[in-house]
Amino acid sequence: MKGVILAGGSGTRLHPLTRITNKHLLPLYDRPMVTYAVEALVRAGIDELMLVTGGTHAGEFFRLLGNGHEYGIDRLAYGYQDQAGGIAEALGLAERFVGRDKVCVMLADNIFQRSLAPVVENFARQEKGARIVLSHVEGDEHLRHLGVAAMDGDRVTEIVEKPESPPSRFAVTGVYFYDAQVWDVIPTLKPSGRGELEITDVNNWYVGGKQMEADAVDGFWGDAGESIDAYYEVNDFVRRNAVNE
Ligand code: DAU
Repeated sequence: MKGVILAGGSGTRLHPLTRITNKHLLPLYDRPMVTYAVEALVRAGIDELMLVTGGTHAGEFFRLLGNGHEYGIDRLAYGYQDQAGGIAEALGLAERFVGRDKVCVMLADNIFQRSLAPVVENFARQEKGARIVLSHVEGDEHLRHLGVAAMDGDRVTEIVEKPESPPSRFAVTGVYFYDAQVWDVIPTLKPSGRGELEITDVNNWYVGGKQMEADAVDGFWGDAGESIDAYYEVNDFVRRNAVNE
């Protein structure tokens, strides 16, 4: 299984910090944010990675990660997204790198307390389709900033992006697993109201075809790019607790 880490986008919710650097290079406690996503995937056994970024600070990722060996990466490729056209657009740049392999996609602003290894193992065993990672989130206001899963028992029946009335307490985190069908789905997407190709539309394609599985993870999960307060909440957590364990 290959890994793709997405570290593009414009980071407007963290302006003006993100005017001077890429959001995923900002510190989380004692190291740059993106290194947590790298660690999460490498510890879960994924050591062939592609990092997709964009904007004016792309070269800094090369300076930080180099060939990746210091981080336990066997092979590290880089992709450049010309404009912040959405998560699904950024993923599309990894098509040739991933080939017909399975892929685990991780947004570089997501932090997990617990290891992703069990979820990666579940997808390695899954015959086809896609898999998402859910986290129980209290508070409607928080859920309104995320993708939220509508559930029927253990099954996801729909994912609603930034819902006014959240259909459950299960937020869709920024870790996604796909088979090679994803490369046929991405070119069919239309830009959303915010002008982006949405990963939620990709996920709902799999949900519609009854090919979507989900795991709910325990422990802390945070999206450090959600707001300046979320950024500090994640910072406080990683300063006091071990993550990716
Ligand atoms: O963090 C989880 C949430 O991430 C999910 O609950 C949502 O369903 C999903 O849409 C996403 O929501 P966000 O509004 O947080 O996405 P955002 O635009 O902040 O992008 C998240 C990351 O994706 C960002 O840190 C880098 C990468 N990205 C984003 C865009 C728009 C790219 O690489 N390129 C892009 O063009």
